[in-house]
Amino acid sequence: MTPQDMSQAALKLCRTAPVIPVIVLDDAKDAAPLAQALVSGGLPVLEVTLRTAAALDCIREMAAIPGGIPGAGTVLTPSDVQAAKDAGAQFAVSPGATDRLLGACEEADLPLLPGAATATEAMRLLERGYSVQKFFPAEASGGAPALKAIGAPLPQITFCPTGGVSPKNVADYLSLKNVACVGGSWVAPKSLIADGDWDAIEALARDAAALSNG
Ligand code: 3PG
Repeated sequence: MTPQDMSQAALKLCRTAPVIPVIVLDDAKDAAPLAQALVSGGLPVLEVTLRTAAALDCIREMAAIPGGIPGAGTVLTPSDVQAAKDAGAQFAVSPGATDRLLGACEEADLPLLPGAATATEAMRLLERGYSVQKFFPAEASGGAPALKAIGAPLPQITFCPTGGVSPKNVADYLSLKNVACVGGSWVAPKSLIADGDWDAIEALARDAAALSNG
């Protein structure tokens, strides 16, 4: 898959809902009910971070949920790419980008949302054909004002800011012209997952899905 095709696929995912839940799960038994709650609440694109031993099993479980579009986050190496793809991930997200990682996703036909935090990083990705990128870590990198400033000379790049995005600042990001959606863990908090409070998670998802991006 070319970087241009991957960017088109990433853009489509980013336009599916205003928020991509960033999911960290320790136990695969929580994957199906969590995915069901998020999808029912209106957030079908699901980023499962490869930071726990259960992550790949969680992606497998979520791939079976009707309407769910699971992907893998924290994808760092070519072997992560293969494992994510084999588990049924439909996309990958990385905190940064390396040539090896980009090459592996292009070879595997796995659409990637590659991370950038500076104008130079964003330009390098654009030079390779990636016009849709994750702005990470969003808040620590200057937040919405920084992303707005990057958008002035680089309006051809569309971003998904992630990292420190919350109900308090999400509207600031979504109001930017160069933002298609945001990523955030607030819609799948550890405490509600531990309690199995899927109704509360569905309510959080519903509020997030109602945010306007534009
Ligand atoms: C992460 O690294 O887990 C993501 O960037 C999500 O960040 P958040 O927990 O601040 O939403």
